[in-house]
Amino acid sequence: MNGTHAMLSHFPIGFWALATLMILVGSFMTGRLADISRAALLPVLVLSLLGALAAIAIGFIVWPMAANLASPLARNHILMAFWSLGIYSAITVLVWKAGDTAFDGARRWVLVILALTGSLMFASAGTLGGHLTGSTTAFSQVLSLMGWEVYTTFYSPLWVIAVMVLIGIALGVLGIMSQRRIG
Ligand code: HEM
Repeated sequence: MNGTHAMLSHFPIGFWALATLMILVGSFMTGRLADISRAALLPVLVLSLLGALAAIAIGFIVWPMAANLASPLARNHILMAFWSLGIYSAITVLVWKAGDTAFDGARRWVLVILALTGSLMFASAGTLGGHLTGSTTAFSQVLSLMGWEVYTTFYSPLWVIAVMVLIGIALGVLGIMSQRRIG
């Protein structure tokens, strides 16, 4: 069953990477490739969510909760998997609701910022998964530069919390401003 998680987890990682690439191409390029990227984004996102749900479900079925929660490595792996799922779910809803206008004007920046943030999350989830199976990658050195030691850290560094608070305030202000503009 361990192998089933390893196999299934490649679906969300592959589709999320593809969706991120399509968002960048659809946002910053013109021509046929950009048109195809914008048109095909929604199905790719839906497949990524189905793959993620399958990988998460099998993760919880295969390993006992006590084992999952015993080490910072596994806890962070699960946390990053849920952050990735949350961010790409938000992108999916935005693209689904906005339809053809999802890439219009400044809207594309919301998709780009969310997709780049989501890539960091799923890259971290995959990297930690690799550490769980004994296959380390150079990406953990990038995490280490940010103060995250993959085997021991289970907290958000203070600067991360500060950035999250600032992003929250900025989004609140943007929301109020755009509501006033509409009203
Ligand atoms: C989107 C969700 C997830 C992704 C993309 C993901 C990704 C991965 C990857 C790439 C590996 C390494 C597989 C290998 O190279 O053999 C891995 C291993 C692992 N994952 Fe996940 N994972 C996800 C969710 C979860 C969840 C929800 C749990 C637990 C409840 C979990 C527990 C584990 C464990 C325990 C391992 C180590 C497996 C072993 O030792 O054979 N994962 N994961």
